[in-house]
Amino acid sequence: MSVADLFKPLTLLHGPAMPNRFMLAPLTNQQSDHDGSPSQFDQDWIMQVSQGGYGLVQSGAAYVEPGGIAYGRQLGIHSDRHLAGLARMATALRDGGALSAVQLHHAGHRAAPELGGIPAPASGLTLPGIRALTTAEIERIRDSFIAAARRAELAGFDGVALHGAFGWVLSEFMSPMLNDRADKYGGAVENRARLTTEVIEGIRRVCGPDFQVGWRLSIERYGLRLEELRDITADILDRELIDYLDLALWDSRQIVKEGGLQGQTMLSVFTELPRKGVRVGAAGKIMSAQRAAQLLDEGCDFVLIGRAGILQRDFPLRVKADPCYDSPQVPVSAQHLRDGGLSERFINHMRRWPNFVVPGLGDRSLRA
Ligand SMILES: Cc1cc2nc3c(=O)[nH]c(=O)nc-3n(C[C@H](O)[C@H](O)[C@H](O)COP(=O)(O)O)c2cc1C
Repeated sequence: MSVADLFKPLTLLHGPAMPNRFMLAPLTNQQSDHDGSPSQFDQDWIMQVSQGGYGLVQSGAAYVEPGGIAYGRQLGIHSDRHLAGLARMATALRDGGALSAVQLHHAGHRAAPELGGIPAPASGLTLPGIRALTTAEIERIRDSFIAAARRAELAGFDGVALHGAFGWVLSEFMSPMLNDRADKYGGAVENRARLTTEVIEGIRRVCGPDFQVGWRLSIERYGLRLEELRDITADILDRELIDYLDLALWDSRQIVKEGGLQGQTMLSVFTELPRKGVRVGAAGKIMSAQRAAQLLDEGCDFVLIGRAGILQRDFPLRVKADPCYDSPQVPVSAQHLRDGGLSERFINHMRRWPNFVVPGLGDRSLRA
């Protein structure tokens, strides 16, 4: 397929179609107020990407309970006091022509106590001295995800995307290494997937028929098993529980290194599954127009743009203007990011990412 195919609309099972195949990946940028309320910095960032030509923009990970926080100045969606700021974000995205989703997140055992987080492990063996969640506590977390989705809907977002990646709570429960429970949330793989499926089913119950639900899945680390994740995903696709699956790869070319699927790309393990009406996309080093188009040939319906979208907020528009567009080479100077409109808070966040911001060079920043 060609670069032009990236600009064809993509219907979803619920609600409006994506106007094109570009989705902005969830990008935490640590610039919300300390209570999780969206700040003017969040709004400025959203305004920039809303003009960037995306088909759908996901927010950064928003924590669904105060105890589920992972980062300082993380976006929150656990209280109605977040509604006004979230509504401003949703309006900006709609006015710019993109669909919108809040990424719903709970850090599980990785919650940060220094920020008020309450580490919530599936197993009593994960963290020294911290007991496993009780069944009732898991049900409370499930209900917090569902309430947060309703809040996103009230704020005017087209949908939510569930953060089921990187060992955070939904991913943690999937892992046989981190989940040794004997209740209905542990044991057989269907039980380890239950928290995720109950969250999705609950959202479908409380939100309207047009509300969109995406699910982000990562495959590596945290004791996750590829074959199990494939089987859970096959079931979720077969039941058309979600509108889109977002495969959180760090490199969309990544090859499976061991086991029965060795030698295949990780992506193909999922794109080869029957998907009915569910759309499938992937993230991972999509830095050029040509690579984005290749992913359509590799079985994706859409692509997720992460770091390339920070380097240039209007990546899709640049691809439209130039089918040979390639992102600037990293690392870039802080000044490059500043000139593009990135806040000092966001730039400081990016300094934590390896090989993204040149230390010192062209850098007149004051810590925000
Ligand atoms: C600054 C930054 C923040 C991120 N925040 C999130 C997040 O909030 N939720 C999430 O699921 N992934 C997050 N990721 C991962 C990205 O969504 C994406 O999957 C990853 O960066 C790979 O895509 P890329 O190579 O295009 O950057 C983040 C990545 C970066 C660079």
